[in-house]
Amino acid sequence: MRTPVFELHIRPMFRATDKAHMGFAVDLWDYDDVVANADGILARLQSDMPPSETGGPWPEEWVTLFQRWKDGARKRLDLGTATFAFQQGSTRTTITATGTFPAAGVEGWLQLESETDTSKTYVLYFEAPDTPVGGTPQAFTLKESYLSTDTRSVFVHSSAGTQQLH
Ligand code: HEM
Repeated sequence: MRTPVFELHIRPMFRATDKAHMGFAVDLWDYDDVVANADGILARLQSDMPPSETGGPWPEEWVTLFQRWKDGARKRLDLGTATFAFQQGSTRTTITATGTFPAAGVEGWLQLESETDTSKTYVLYFEAPDTPVGGTPQAFTLKESYLSTDTRSVFVHSSAGTQQLH
């Protein structure tokens, strides 16, 4: 069964309103904060959070998923390292990330992290295998593309910080 990962399966369950209201005690979008408060968060999810007047409680499967993540490896993603290229074609615009994974078995991809009316930010994620595998780290070429009619500025978020490509 797929190992739950914080950025992919846990953080998206917490709404912006959950993060805002709970900011006095814990940042629900911050991995270290959620790990440090995981037992308390689970206890409140099982009793009174999010409050029923604000859309709670969660479906049982979500609570079980949080518990499975908390009781397991508490897996998370890493920001990847790559060289980026930006190519505007006649119909599609392509962002390319090239490099070599840090270890064998690591997977990587580019995904849209946030957008505004004038800009988009992509993030480069690396996911380590659940258990280390032997072998040589592989070179990668990762692409993400979208319609060229979208002319907004483009940023990429990686281990080097956030840089503008266009
Ligand atoms: C460490 C565990 C938690 C504690 C100690 C806690 C405690 C509290 C307290 C004291 C309040 C009332 C203060 C306020 O409205 O700002 C509150 C409100 C709220 N909490 Fe939590 N909470 C916890 C976890 C969570 C979680 C995991 C979620 C969402 C998944 C959540 C969602 C909310 C929301 C949406 C409100 C606002 C309710 C309203 O506006 O009436 N809380 N929480």
